[in-house]
Amino acid sequence: MGLFPDNFLWGGATAANQIEGAWNADGKGPSTADVMTAGTKDTPRLITMDFVEGANYPSREAVDFYHHYKEDIALFAEMGFKTFRMSINWTRIYPTGLETEPNEKGLQFYDNVFDELRKYGIEPLVTLSHYECPLGMVKEFNGWTDRRAIDCFLRYCETVFNRFKDKVTYWLTFNEINGLAMHPSFLGGGFYSPEMSMNMDGGATPELDRLRFTALHYQLVASAKAVQLGHKINPGFKIGNMICHITTYPYTCNPADVLKAQEQDRISNCLCGDVQCRGEYPPYALKFFKKIGVQIDITKEDKKELKAGTVDYYTFSYYMSTCTSTDPNAAKLRGNLIKGVKNPYLEASEWGWQIDPKGLRYTLNKIYDRYEKPMMVVENGLGAVDTQEEDGTIHDSYRIDYLKKHIEEMGKAIEDGCEVWGYTTWGCIDLISASTGEMKKRYGFIYVDKDNDGKGTMERSRKDSFYWYKKVIASNGEQLD
Ligand code: BG6
Repeated sequence: MGLFPDNFLWGGATAANQIEGAWNADGKGPSTADVMTAGTKDTPRLITMDFVEGANYPSREAVDFYHHYKEDIALFAEMGFKTFRMSINWTRIYPTGLETEPNEKGLQFYDNVFDELRKYGIEPLVTLSHYECPLGMVKEFNGWTDRRAIDCFLRYCETVFNRFKDKVTYWLTFNEINGLAMHPSFLGGGFYSPEMSMNMDGGATPELDRLRFTALHYQLVASAKAVQLGHKINPGFKIGNMICHITTYPYTCNPADVLKAQEQDRISNCLCGDVQCRGEYPPYALKFFKKIGVQIDITKEDKKELKAGTVDYYTFSYYMSTCTSTDPNAAKLRGNLIKGVKNPYLEASEWGWQIDPKGLRYTLNKIYDRYEKPMMVVENGLGAVDTQEEDGTIHDSYRIDYLKKHIEEMGKAIEDGCEVWGYTTWGCIDLISASTGEMKKRYGFIYVDKDNDGKGTMERSRKDSFYWYKKVIASNGEQLD
């Protein structure tokens, strides 16, 4: 046997709002993702709350998986996918989030998708909430900053758990729930304040801190309740969390840097995992809330729910690592959700995300040491500009190189003793970037002919990485060249 277990779940990952499009088809309501304009790496996306004539809202059409799912799933099957990570678009099921009856056409769409996956023996891995919140809830009570959001979410979970209880086994509650521990978020946090911005420099006012940690608390409670509800509906369900793990190294061995890195790691990476895996807020989190002057409405009942709703397994996204320094002049870099200090030993992607395959081995070991729960790497990949040649081919050796090195290190972590159930690369088919709303920041094995302005035929083409990943899966991770 090689490094990877025989039943290892190889596959790819997506999010509904970044692939489906059809934003108002068959009764779907608008979500936070639908009212965000496209930006670039230097221009933040804008939140418009209502639709502005002429503005470019990339999620509205995305890559139209809604009408191409059969063709796309056939391509995933051709690569040999064992699993496909996708999310359910909450507003297809409850258009404003506030209804008491679900939208049958929305449910039917996911029935069709799950049936199509089953046809090829592909196991769905379903995120319940991936960077979107019904706009109706934001307008009614500012989304997740209000306790009522918990009941709305649970109503939606109950509907999809019951409907798909024989079609889906693996669930994740909130995508990158710890994003809110890093900065305020309209997309995932589902709340709006005029002070906020998608620009990661913005957002450190006391009021925004109060809003984001309140929203985070309600999401943590909702996640714990969803875990319990899911297990009641089908005891065979495996329900996990999902953390954006941005591994943080001290910039130097100066103990002051080491302490600073530890503090950042705890709040950004560990706080949510600690609550979701151990069932309570760790003491350092409660001290931190006090330090920043945030009071959160944590009730006795909430504490019971958190304790009773710990997850079955831990999943995370891993793209990059960063450094932390006490030196205010240390060179900065961009990154996924947070900025950090540049690591002189690492290269960065075109979007400034530092590439660190060894960091994946380190991270898997770190998480396993902390929780001893099975893990899955549910996002990993390189956002890059691809060029389609005249003959239709796309030569993305840079992507193969990135993925190969990360898979190698994941194999070493398994050898170190980590229990890893699966690996789904991000954006297995080109999709809309969450941070910038661009199309040209591509991650896929499958190229989609569409540009940043929304022009293109939507035709799907296999990149070089498509054929490469097919061999990786067929050899269960043995053949990486
Ligand atoms: C993760 C998100 O943070 O990173 C995805 O879960 C996102 O939704 C992915 O798309 C890559 O980020 P970006 O900004 O390049 O799309």
